[in-house]
Amino acid sequence: MTSLAPTVLEKLATPLKIGSVEIKSRVLQSPLSGVTDLIFRRLVRRYAPTSMMYTEMVSATEIHHLQQLPKIMEIDPQEHPISIQLFDCRPDFMAEAATKAVAEGAKTVDINMGCPVNKITKKGGGSSLLRQPEIAQEIVKTVVSAVEVPVTVKTRIGWNDEEITILDFAKRMEDAGAAMLTLHARTRAQGYNGTARWEWIRRVKEILSIPVIANGDIFSVEAALRCLEETGADGVMCSRGTLGYPFLVGEIDYFLKTGKELATPTPLQRLECAKEHLKGLWEYKGQRGIYQSRKHLTWYCKGFAGASLLRDEVSRINSLQEGYELINKAIKQLNFS
Ligand SMILES: Cc1cc2nc3c(=O)[nH]c(=O)nc-3n(C[C@H](O)[C@H](O)[C@H](O)COP(=O)(O)O)c2cc1C
Repeated sequence: MTSLAPTVLEKLATPLKIGSVEIKSRVLQSPLSGVTDLIFRRLVRRYAPTSMMYTEMVSATEIHHLQQLPKIMEIDPQEHPISIQLFDCRPDFMAEAATKAVAEGAKTVDINMGCPVNKITKKGGGSSLLRQPEIAQEIVKTVVSAVEVPVTVKTRIGWNDEEITILDFAKRMEDAGAAMLTLHARTRAQGYNGTARWEWIRRVKEILSIPVIANGDIFSVEAALRCLEETGADGVMCSRGTLGYPFLVGEIDYFLKTGKELATPTPLQRLECAKEHLKGLWEYKGQRGIYQSRKHLTWYCKGFAGASLLRDEVSRINSLQEGYELINKAIKQLNFS
């Protein structure tokens, strides 16, 4: 295991200060569209009670036009600290959405400037803001003046290899009033491919005064430590590493706080967690939750004999009972093997 320098450890033991908000953990759960709903966040929080979590990204245009707030903005009154992530390219819509997010209970408002999806970038949102830094700046300024809570930005290192603009962009975000910057160290063109280029996080950290959170390829405690060591970042944010594994944020947090590794959950524990996740989605979203649970269940079914067949079966379930029966059968087999 990488060992961190004493000065790094000392800093990581102090709370993370996002403007006026203090967070007792330097490990964050990222916003993941289609994943980080209230049910998933509840599971992550069990192991990482003090970590910052994010809703799935929400469209400010949608918030503006809909009578009711989208369900993905819903926050459990018990869950803190929590941030609502917004995306759009219209400063006025963003300010309106941010005000509503704060009324819902968001402790910070995060602005998505990293989403690579065409549907979003074509409309000027997500990572396309990297190419329109003036508009990005205007959005941050407008939102900052609309709400009392800290406003943060999550972005990428640039549009593509020819346009790695993050040094200028990050400075602009800070100047506009952003209270923290999370950097997914890939370009928009990379999507989720190739490795995250953490060296850019280090370079951004060197020029900003606000906290910089490292994101990209944090799949283990070891990776988190290496990233913190190499970048000097103020914290790490976990993303794909948490799919079917809501234990990761807690594992890293525990190591940073104690210097000790938690035991890795066994396949049985992971399957019990999968069942709980499925039940939660059913209770919260009904039949839609069952359909959504299919992908989650396939992510949980890894690393034991029969996992591949089970993945195939759970990817087609139509009811809570069907899911329970399949997972219970697998649990029984594991108990007897
Ligand atoms: C399924 C999926 C959904 C995502 N949804 C969001 C989102 O809503 N907002 C956001 O800022 N990033 C989103 N991301 C990007 C992640 O938060 C993160 O920046 C990216 O996956 C890099 O981290 P990783 O290499 O550890 O996965 C999403 C990524 C995935 C795979």
